[in-house]
Amino acid sequence: MRILAIETSCDETAAAVVEDGRRIVSSVVYTQIAEHRIYGGVVPEIASRRHMEKIDLVVEKALADAGETVGSVDALAVTAGPGLVGALLVGVNFAKGLSLASGLPLIPVHHIRGHIAANYLAAADLTPPFLCLVASGGHSLIVDVRDYTDLAVLGRSRDDAAGECFDKAARAMGFPYPGGVELDRQARSGDDSKYRFPKPHVEGAPLDMSFSGVKTAVVNLLHNSAQRGETVDVPSLCASFEKTVCEALVTRLFSAARETGAKTVCVAGGVSANTRLRASLEKEGRDRSIRIVMPPLSLTGDNAAMIGAQAYYEFLAGHLADDGLNAVATLPVDRGAPADFNV
Ligand code: KG4
Ligand code: ZN
Repeated sequence: MRILAIETSCDETAAAVVEDGRRIVSSVVYTQIAEHRIYGGVVPEIASRRHMEKIDLVVEKALADAGETVGSVDALAVTAGPGLVGALLVGVNFAKGLSLASGLPLIPVHHIRGHIAANYLAAADLTPPFLCLVASGGHSLIVDVRDYTDLAVLGRSRDDAAGECFDKAARAMGFPYPGGVELDRQARSGDDSKYRFPKPHVEGAPLDMSFSGVKTAVVNLLHNSAQRGETVDVPSLCASFEKTVCEALVTRLFSAARETGAKTVCVAGGVSANTRLRASLEKEGRDRSIRIVMPPLSLTGDNAAMIGAQAYYEFLAGHLADDGLNAVATLPVDRGAPADFNV
């Protein structure tokens, strides 16, 4: 079964054709990052407008690259939330139009479930149950993937997401948006024991995290050093910060694996591109004989192939959109049935 999937939840306009949830036939991502960089973050109005301008070209290219037409694929899928509502609406309305015109079924997909499904594209033999660490710009979660469409949150960030924390710390250091990537690069030549930060611990909730204190500590350190005229060892600041955030994510993930007896753990979201996080997951997995699955770097950020992968399993669960399909800004990952998007 071939699904044409569309993703416009943030600042990437993306379309892909995916076969049986496992094989990418084509994948096109138009990224707006350069345009948002001068503002230091994503400007929702600009994102929506650019999606409007690019979506038909991106979809046409994904179909052409796959040797398909709208008439020859088997179903359509679209990210319906969570994300920027104006951006999501562009994809949702485009997909609804295509579905009406072609008579093809339309599958609404939860963006975070899509990130998790990038792992199905990475490992053909991966099947639930498994645990997944989701670390993106908007979410930090430890998810128990009990089945393809049955997910439960075991731990979460109570405030800033890991990616948001990376971006805000990076911004304070003067790196361009999205700062996580540059912070990762700088950290490689730094000493990770040079600076100390508060642990992202939440009293009474051992699998939850709080990253806002770490972010504030970075901002204060830079501010105080500037006032005293001291120079900051930026690579070491990056490495120390990264160590604090990655340790918090990885220790909680493996605590959850111990509690649930999980033998496989995956990772998802933009922060899963992080060099230290990937190395640390590999090492801990080896030490504990737990299988680690990670999406390739091409699938860690936003793309439509991951949406097409999850859509296949939503389709098998009978999750098809009706006329009431809308876009939603927030939605927990344990909800993702069509009715959850009809608001
Ligand atoms: O999943 P994603 O593409 O978008 C959301 O759905 O939020 O995640 C984007 C986030 C940004 O915060 C970006 O800085 C972060 O992923 N990111 C990284 C790296 N590459 C992207 N953070 C740390 N290290 C990286 N190498
Ligand atoms: Zn994302």
